[in-house]
Amino acid sequence: MPSTGSKIPPRFSIALAASTLALLFSFSSADAQSTGNHPWSNANLSPDERASMVVKEMTLDEKISLLHGTGMAGLSPLSPEIIHSNGGAGYAVGVPRLGIPGIQMSDAAYGVRMSGENGRYSTALPANIASAASWDLDAAYEYGALIGRELRAQGYNMTLGGGINLTREPRNGRTFEYLGEDPVLAGKMVGQVMKGLQAQHVLGDIKHYALNDQESGRNAVNVTIDKRASRESDLLAFEIGIHDSDVAAVMCSYNRIWGDYACENRYLLTDVLKKDWNFKGFVVSDWGATHSLAKSSAAGLDHEEPGWIFYGDDLKKAVESGAVPKSELDDHIHRVLRAMFATGVIDDPPVRSVPDIFGGLEIAQKIAEQSIVLLKNDQSLLPLDAAKIHSIAVIGPHADVGMISGGGSAQVDPPGGNAIMPPGKGNTYWQAHIWFPTSPLKTIRAKAPSATVQFNSGEDPSAAAALAKKSDIAIVFAYQWISEDMDLASLSLPDHQDDLIAKVAAANPHTIVVLETGTAVTMPWLDHVSTLVEAWYAGSRGADAVANVLFGDVNPSAKLPMTFPRSEADLPHPTLVKPPKETVEANSQGWKRIAEGLPVFQVTYDEGVKVGYKWYDAENKPVLFPFGYGLSYTTYSYSGLKVQLGKSPRVTFTVTNTGNRAGAEIAEVYASLPAAASEPPKRLVGWSKVKLNGGEQKEVTVEIDPKFLSIFNVENNGWELIPGAYTFMAGGSSQNLPLKETMNLK
Ligand code: BGC
Repeated sequence: MPSTGSKIPPRFSIALAASTLALLFSFSSADAQSTGNHPWSNANLSPDERASMVVKEMTLDEKISLLHGTGMAGLSPLSPEIIHSNGGAGYAVGVPRLGIPGIQMSDAAYGVRMSGENGRYSTALPANIASAASWDLDAAYEYGALIGRELRAQGYNMTLGGGINLTREPRNGRTFEYLGEDPVLAGKMVGQVMKGLQAQHVLGDIKHYALNDQESGRNAVNVTIDKRASRESDLLAFEIGIHDSDVAAVMCSYNRIWGDYACENRYLLTDVLKKDWNFKGFVVSDWGATHSLAKSSAAGLDHEEPGWIFYGDDLKKAVESGAVPKSELDDHIHRVLRAMFATGVIDDPPVRSVPDIFGGLEIAQKIAEQSIVLLKNDQSLLPLDAAKIHSIAVIGPHADVGMISGGGSAQVDPPGGNAIMPPGKGNTYWQAHIWFPTSPLKTIRAKAPSATVQFNSGEDPSAAAALAKKSDIAIVFAYQWISEDMDLASLSLPDHQDDLIAKVAAANPHTIVVLETGTAVTMPWLDHVSTLVEAWYAGSRGADAVANVLFGDVNPSAKLPMTFPRSEADLPHPTLVKPPKETVEANSQGWKRIAEGLPVFQVTYDEGVKVGYKWYDAENKPVLFPFGYGLSYTTYSYSGLKVQLGKSPRVTFTVTNTGNRAGAEIAEVYASLPAAASEPPKRLVGWSKVKLNGGEQKEVTVEIDPKFLSIFNVENNGWELIPGAYTFMAGGSSQNLPLKETMNLK
């Protein structure tokens, strides 16, 4: 894969440097301290009052030390203070004399990063895109809470997880770290993740703000989009997540937007985030995304990471000379301290402890089981009945030992090491393909103990097809690896897997395809495969979860959080815009060149608000599988729609489980706006996950936030309900909405 080359030297050396230091100097006394006996130790005071009291006592140097990181090899110089780093991506020095701990930050998208390298343990949850497929707000809370507990157990007090960029470009290498293409689904889910996490007294973070929707040339690209469209799409996801969780931090992204870098973009950071949304936390730059001092500070950037190219001595001089007003500096530090008091990291600092590994694995499995999407089951081949099967062929790269995971700064070190490496040799490093040691072959064998279960890697498709031919059932595990710092050239499965699937399916009509992907894939073989399951990057217990779904111990309930298009030609941008060659070369000159600013290139999101299903709907383009789609081993029917208008409209209907098997149906509610609103045909406005026994029915009411029915009026800078006819629709996917009612809103 081409790399944008923005991490030079590669991250693994950075990680090694940090972890070695962490081992040498295991913990900073500054970090172990709680507030002690200070006036602001009084937890009955508000976080704002407590922060203001501390700000008054701080020297200029102390303030500045909390406004920047202590460095990362390859991205900035290193401070001597880095010896107190806990081994994570960021560390900011605290003020021990005032009882203010340092901030120990770790990436923790689907689990705590770099635990292996630091000699620790963390659970790898299913990837974020998978968790979005559960549409389960309680599971999202649990997801965040688990990460929060494991961060604390390892001595961290801040996460850098919380990715929420919309899947505007499914080839984006970070799609697995995000929560899909819809702002309401993504915003609600990340809000719950952050609530669960912050309840553990860890600083939360939502990122990458904003419109960092492709990795290619992320340090150089200038993104333009219609302002209204931005507020109704990517920014709406942030608005919801921040509102719901009162998150401690927002990470501004690498790219430029409307000509200004995100981390010095006054409209984004101050006008929208801090004023319109009343965000009380602090803005942290992505690693090396700061490009100026006075401009960034005035625009609303509070904290520079990973170093102090701008927010160190230069900030001090600027405050002393008045180039940066003292009030501006105090606002930055107030925000950091307020977030620390509000989240509890000062009153209840992390204490290292033995993590609950068994509990973690159980949660990882439970969430994976709720995340696996059954896409096709035409012959009702699933669930498999072990008693009736004599032989199974398990086919596909490494399906004997593991399942693939997503790379980059989200990468979790799998307990047990990389499954395809000899024990002890499975170190993770930047852009390595990491296979979690969770073996589909083993879990399938355990489910069908009296069947002959044989494995073929698929390297030779004809040999795999021959094994399939002599087996009752063939299960092909197909993978697609993605990572930060790259985009996919296409949505095709790599390594000739399309050919493998076609050959196996031709040899055995009872072929099941299980996808391990972090985004959509194209499927030239789809008409010849009757049974298809999307398992995503399924985490530490992925193989157990998949086997439970295949053999019916779990009835699948997940629904796609993103559209699977028929081909790249149907995307809003059939060709992904790559940086010009000079930009890539300029990157290789390192962080100084990035900080100064790389030559710009342009990406224009002229599809505007039409992200994902809104695009395919508006353009009348058929898709492979639509947003919100997913099957079950039972069936559901919908009836009796009633819409009650009011401050928050209420949509009520009945869902019936028309089969015998218990299940959970994600009942989705969409609305179309009056023609005068000029919006795509429909938008998701709410949902409810309904558990139903066989034959059972339940009445469901979904209350709709009026904002989700509104348009953003740029002139008035506010959300506005357009009078006219609104159609409310309910059903099991964005393209299967049997209930419909039109009402007039005045
Ligand atoms: C990524 C962030 C990450 C940071 C620290 C950056 O390259 O874009 O998502 O949190 O590195 O590792």
